[in-house]
Amino acid sequence: MDDLRQKYLNAIADAADESALEDLRVTAVGKKGEVSLKMRELGRMTPEERQVAGPALNALKDEINSALAAKKSALEDAALDARLRDEWLDVTLPARQRPQGTIHPVSQVTEEVTAILADMGFAVAEGPQIETDWYNFDALNIPGHHPARTEMDTFYMHRDEGDNRPPHVLRTHTSPVQIRSMQENGAPIRIICPGRVYRADYDQTHTPMFHQVEGLAIDRDISMANLKWVLEEFFSAFFGTSVKTRFRASHFPFTEPSAEVDIQCSWEGGTVKVGEGDGWLEVLGSGMVHPKVLAAAGVDPNEWQGFAFGMGIDRMAMLKYGIPDLRAFFDSDLRWLRHYGFAALDQPTLHGGLVR
Ligand code: PHE
Repeated sequence: MDDLRQKYLNAIADAADESALEDLRVTAVGKKGEVSLKMRELGRMTPEERQVAGPALNALKDEINSALAAKKSALEDAALDARLRDEWLDVTLPARQRPQGTIHPVSQVTEEVTAILADMGFAVAEGPQIETDWYNFDALNIPGHHPARTEMDTFYMHRDEGDNRPPHVLRTHTSPVQIRSMQENGAPIRIICPGRVYRADYDQTHTPMFHQVEGLAIDRDISMANLKWVLEEFFSAFFGTSVKTRFRASHFPFTEPSAEVDIQCSWEGGTVKVGEGDGWLEVLGSGMVHPKVLAAAGVDPNEWQGFAFGMGIDRMAMLKYGIPDLRAFFDSDLRWLRHYGFAALDQPTLHGGLVR
């Protein structure tokens, strides 16, 4: 019995892990284990022998069981110590940098413009960037032979030979959305449409893709006076200072009368400042919507009238945020984007402020 005892106590002391320990338990004190088999032999002993062997075997079994339990908890402690050593973490280390994008000035200004005009009751409308020439031109009183078609440097979509459908164009302005909105909703109507427009032109102040916001207000008695008020309110809110406007008589086929609108600015030291000085800067085209345009959109010109305007969003961003070169807007230069971009959570609202 001493041999048995020594054999198992040694083996338990040497066990490397819990599964080795479990094997030992089965071979020693399991149902068919060595100690259990010895216990079965008790029945064949004399009472005297049994009185000695019985308690001794029970004691051996207890001793092995408690050696197993002690070793098991020692192994668990060792495993925990090893984990604590391995899974060490310095919580004082600074976090790894995560690259963070910025909001492009065009997006920012689009949101600002939308917030101001939405507050004046203009809903946001949208239209396709690939337009039929009817929406882009004809419906806006620009017939096929009209010089405005070539003046606008229109991008025409390719047509296969023998495909005689009228051409599609990349819209040259947001004005086609006037037509689509009136067709859809009739009058009265008050909408703006911010979006991309395209013209084949590229220099310091022109890119082939740029952004406009169209405005349209049609009701029974809307006049140029309402247009002037809306624009002056708009510019003052947008630039955060009261801004005078100057209306110059102009011509657009889709408005009559038409006006180009300048805003007050100063030109000191080669930089433009809006809302001060006695200089002027042209920022948009506008006018009273031409009766033919209303009619083309299914609105009765004898009953309804109103104004429309079209303004360059990129130009507004340059003026407000002092950005010198238009082409840089679309170069995707990360340094430029970081410098002129806006924080994602810094979105403009009327209550949060539009001017920084
Ligand atoms: N669509 C004109 C342009 O792109 C601007 C405009 C819009 C003028 C609405 C008058 C009325 O130049």
